[in-house]
Amino acid sequence: MSQLESALDYARAHKDEHLAELVDLLSIPSVSTLPEHKPDIRRCAEWLKAQLESLGLSTVELKETPGHPIVYGEWLEAPGKPTVLVYGHYDVQPADPFNEWDTPPFEPTVRDDYIYARGASDMKGQIFAQIKALQALTQFGEIPFNIKYLIEGEEEIGSENLEDFIDNNIDLLQCDFVLNTDAGIYAKGQPGITYSLRGLAYFEIELRAHQKDLHSGRFGGTVLNPIHELSKLITGLHDAQGRVTLPGFYDKVRDLPQEERDAIAQLPYSDEDWLGMSGSKVLGGEEGYTTLERVGVRPCLDVNGIWGGFVGEGAKTVLPAVAHCKLSTRLVAHQNHRDIPAMLEAYLKENVPEGLDWSLHDHSGGPGSTMDRHSPYMKAAEDALRTTYGKETLFSPEGGSIPVVGMMQEKLDSDSILLGFALPDDGIHGPNERQYLPNTFTGIETYIHYMMNVGG
Ligand code: BES
Ligand code: MN
Repeated sequence: MSQLESALDYARAHKDEHLAELVDLLSIPSVSTLPEHKPDIRRCAEWLKAQLESLGLSTVELKETPGHPIVYGEWLEAPGKPTVLVYGHYDVQPADPFNEWDTPPFEPTVRDDYIYARGASDMKGQIFAQIKALQALTQFGEIPFNIKYLIEGEEEIGSENLEDFIDNNIDLLQCDFVLNTDAGIYAKGQPGITYSLRGLAYFEIELRAHQKDLHSGRFGGTVLNPIHELSKLITGLHDAQGRVTLPGFYDKVRDLPQEERDAIAQLPYSDEDWLGMSGSKVLGGEEGYTTLERVGVRPCLDVNGIWGGFVGEGAKTVLPAVAHCKLSTRLVAHQNHRDIPAMLEAYLKENVPEGLDWSLHDHSGGPGSTMDRHSPYMKAAEDALRTTYGKETLFSPEGGSIPVVGMMQEKLDSDSILLGFALPDDGIHGPNERQYLPNTFTGIETYIHYMMNVGG
């Protein structure tokens, strides 16, 4: 039997063992943002290190950073074959509110073909499937190409230290392409590949009108209310057509080629499904674009939170001293996330009423990215998906952000193939996050086919 056939048989014969190991991995609360989980983060990195060691790589180590460690591994003994950098992240988002989980987030539970746990879909299930695929292949022969693993522990907090790590390890990370497993398919039984991701620029604004909160009767109607003024500033950021009014915001946005619009229009989509997934009753957004265009290939601006004044129970008559909001922009090709702070700053300078103090804090962000859809490595992914699903792959643009993809294009000149098996309704970042287990297992098979395609 060939290495391919033997590996597929092996994967099918070891489903129970694989599920048990996945449960182990998902039981580790590797929440990157919470200091109390620092030991769990390290335990998770060690767990993955042991997995990579079982693959017979020549180097496996934890690369320390000022934050959480990076799991690194390599095997470069296939001269003449491509070098693949496999990317994943082992950190997860916090699991609160805990009372909204039907079963505890770090006690993985199987119900109706789904495994429920924080990180099941974003993205321990994916990197696990890739490792198991390679483990199956290495039972019956050598790895069919050169491989490097880079599994970080800070994706969910903006990959800050990864950026420095890449800058300082350009040679170490050289590769022909990146296999990014932080990805999903279009729908159950329908293979899909994400060909673009939006960039992100995230801010916090503070607007102060007085030294302290005032009596709203004693002073109301005589001085400015910072919440009203902040609301006007926010309202002023969109026009009646739903376009962002920040001067310069669209300057670098590319015109959409008609053929791309046609391709997006061909994707299966219904308002009803979309509203079902979002739990909303109406759609909204920029005029002149469809929902899939709005989310995938058009930029947007959203207030993520707003606060100030009295928000407790009951009524307190107060004229607030200060108002705050958190605000994000999602960016498309060829916008630069580093251009946005100056635009927002100019807007505030121009529009904040005289006598009010304001500050703008720039939180982490990252570049968007567009992948080459016609590279041989992309074809290899389409072929692998066709083999396991018996269907053609749908290519779609994605509204979320994975800054490392753009970073690696910029710094390593390496494109990413986003091959993973999350579903749009897996509930990532929310309560009852889950992964569809048939996807985990087809995922292992798809990665086996993919790796043989790349090596072949
Ligand atoms: N896996 C997600 C990104 C994602 C979500 C891609 C949905 C495609 C569809 C990733 O872990 C994530 O949540 N990224 C953050 C950005 C980061 C800088 C915190 C995001 O998109 O908000
Ligand atoms: Mn993720």
